Amino acid sequence: MRATHPLLEARELTVRFGGLTAVDAVSAAFGAGELVGIIGPNGAGKTTFFNALSGVTPVSAGELFAQGQRLTGAGAHRFARHGIARTFQTPRVFAELSVAANVDFGLQFAGRRAGAAQERPRWLVDEAAILDLIGLARLKDLPAAAVTPSQQRLLEIGMALATRPRVLLLDEVAAGLTESEVEAMAQLIRRLREELDLTVIWIEHAVTTLLRHVERVLVLHQGRKIADGTPEEVVRNAEVIEAYLGDEMVEPVA
Ligand SMILES: Nc1ncnc2c1ncn2[C@@H]1O[C@H](COP(=O)(O)OP(=O)(O)OP(=O)(O)O)[C@@H](O)[C@H]1O
Ligand SMILES: [Mg+2]
Repeated sequence: MRATHPLLEARELTVRFGGLTAVDAVSAAFGAGELVGIIGPNGAGKTTFFNALSGVTPVSAGELFAQGQRLTGAGAHRFARHGIARTFQTPRVFAELSVAANVDFGLQFAGRRAGAAQERPRWLVDEAAILDLIGLARLKDLPAAAVTPSQQRLLEIGMALATRPRVLLLDEVAAGLTESEVEAMAQLIRRLREELDLTVIWIEHAVTTLLRHVERVLVLHQGRKIADGTPEEVVRNAEVIEAYLGDEMVEPVA
């Protein structure tokens, strides 16, 4: 029965800050194993959408469901219990703790969740496996503050993975990376989806890279969802070109 429900679903989701409607009646459903990109101009509401999808920001109107269960109004811990994990646009790692201890924090968080552990791939309980996957095994004893910002982004992904999620929300994990680091990040994200059977929703401004790797993309503009389709469909959408791609696609296609 569970399998018939999307893993995560927003229905007419609206988030207002005073008079500003940051997310405006957005509906979207995310199924098992999907790799979905989210693009849109600065201030389009992408991060706010993630904040609502992970229970970090309260919803003003509309509904949220995880595997068919209504989570509207629930706190972030309940979303986590339903297997929703996310990274933040500004990485949030424990600077004084070692890289390994940061991963352990995620593992301990998952350990407290009865039931979740058995349903997820066993190897994800393993600190060494996670450090290998994110490529930080050699740096595991360094304080998180001592690794580069791009390595901190990888670490944040590792912390999220350690909670054994079903759905991983990535907010601009490739921002500020060099071209080769961006490509490595994209390859990592594909492995997460393929090897761990995760649903990944990925916000990124590096549109040409993103569109090469995802099979579906949502476009937000002024809080509204203006497109939801394959990369081929979205790049041909007149409203999307007008709102966003006209500027972004000027970057050379690699
Ligand atoms: N806590 C808040 N209080 C008031 N306004 C907010 C808050 N968070 C976001 N906003 C506003 O909501 C709108 C959407 O912001 P959001 O951060 O979701 O955009 P974004 O698409 O993630 O942009 P970017 O690409 O720059 O990260 C913006 O106008 C922003 O200023
Ligand atoms: Mg943002």
